[in-house]
Amino acid sequence: MGIELLVNMSYVAAAVLFIFGLKMLGSPATARKGNLVSALGMFVAVVITLLDQSIIDYKWILAGVVAGGAIGAIVARRVEMTGMPEMVALFNGFGGVASLLVGWAALYGFEANTFEMITIILSILIGGVTFSGSMVAWGKLSERISGKPMVFGGQRVFNILLIVAIIAASAMFTLYPESHLYLYLVIGLALLLGIMLVIPIGGADMPVVISLLNSYSGLAACAAGLAINNIILIVAGALVGASGIILTQIMCKAMNRSLSNVLFSGFSAVSAGGAAAKIEGEAKAMTAEDAYYVLEAAASVVIVPGYGMAVAQAQHVVKELQELLEKNGAEVVYAIHPVAGRMPGHMNVLLAEADVSYDLLLEMDAINPRMETFDVAIVIGANDVVNPAAREMEGSPIYGMPVINVDMARNVFVMKRSMASGFAGIDNPLFFKENTRMLFGDAKEMLGNIIKAFN
Ligand code: TAP
Repeated sequence: MGIELLVNMSYVAAAVLFIFGLKMLGSPATARKGNLVSALGMFVAVVITLLDQSIIDYKWILAGVVAGGAIGAIVARRVEMTGMPEMVALFNGFGGVASLLVGWAALYGFEANTFEMITIILSILIGGVTFSGSMVAWGKLSERISGKPMVFGGQRVFNILLIVAIIAASAMFTLYPESHLYLYLVIGLALLLGIMLVIPIGGADMPVVISLLNSYSGLAACAAGLAINNIILIVAGALVGASGIILTQIMCKAMNRSLSNVLFSGFSAVSAGGAAAKIEGEAKAMTAEDAYYVLEAAASVVIVPGYGMAVAQAQHVVKELQELLEKNGAEVVYAIHPVAGRMPGHMNVLLAEADVSYDLLLEMDAINPRMETFDVAIVIGANDVVNPAAREMEGSPIYGMPVINVDMARNVFVMKRSMASGFAGIDNPLFFKENTRMLFGDAKEMLGNIIKAFN
């Protein structure tokens, strides 16, 4: 009895740590601590499960902790900042397959009643969908498979038939649990459904999909927790499921699209139909030295980073330029779009790495009303998130999406290597505006040249 009380109290403690950790993750200033607190919660949960040997022998759990911890540590150390979304996709996938295996394993060793059978099937089903869906998302993000939406005639009908088949196989399995044929059928069909759900979604929408899959992996864990009657798994799963769906909503809102629009109408397919008007005009290039002369005289500068800053790994030179401008008497702030880069918080993480103060990072809604007051807006490897077509060009696939209105600043400098379009694959009229100058080249190099001119 004593040990049972200890186990339950520890589970409560772990749950509290998860919740506080999650809360701390809400602000960049406390996020690092929040991560540690949540990890501590997970550690407590694992160690306590270890004590509570009724599940499996503690040696196996220990082996799992050591092997999983080592792989996680190595992968996390090696991953490039630009490869983070792919890593999250893999994490979700592994979470999904873990739930699938837990559900599967729960079939052995005890006589499951109907409710338990249902939770087992749910953990296998959602876990399987999460696993194969995450693998496709990983492939698309890492460009191992094409980022284009894959659509074919009769796709919808096929998917509906697939879901009907899954329901039928699940029902048969609940009725005849001793027949493994139905179990394998459920697993196979779930894996197929995961693939079918993600292939029609374009690469540009993958971060939303990943966040949704994250939510699924939580639901799968929750179902697995119910299947093996483990409270902490239920709690952790529910937290992941809920936070994943909230994040998904935030991203959809930032792109002014509904979740069903993301899931059921490939973005590229939309843009092809949208046939936005061709943008004509001449982009004016400038040199780093010219940029220096303008910046040297500027009293207020707003820096708008995007995916290109991550690619160029330019965050440290950006910080250097910020300090030079400040020393020169200018006010410098950063404008962060919620979906700049390739994952939520991408820019915040990079700038935090370069020790940029959180107080200088302003959200889109805070910066836009005062954009006119800035002497210079420096766009560093951002494209879609500063595209004025979202305001001006009805019919553009991004029309209506909230963007950072850099074109309203007195001068706009755009740093990128070419006139190429961004992730959404659409032209950007910003480059042709009267007050815009292009600084063509790698962002890190270009910033280095401006800094040289300053010194
Ligand atoms: P993008 O629109 O993809 O533009 C990035 C730009 O960076 C490119 O136009 C590229 O132009 C430039 N670039 C690349 N490497 C560079 C380098 N080494 N030096 C300088 N410039 C470089 O990025 P964004 O403005 O950050 O927008 C994010 C996109 O991702 C949006 O479409 C958004 O909807 C999508 N998305 C993001 C999320 C999240 S959560 N972040 C979620 C869903 C969708 P060049 O090739 O000419 O250099």
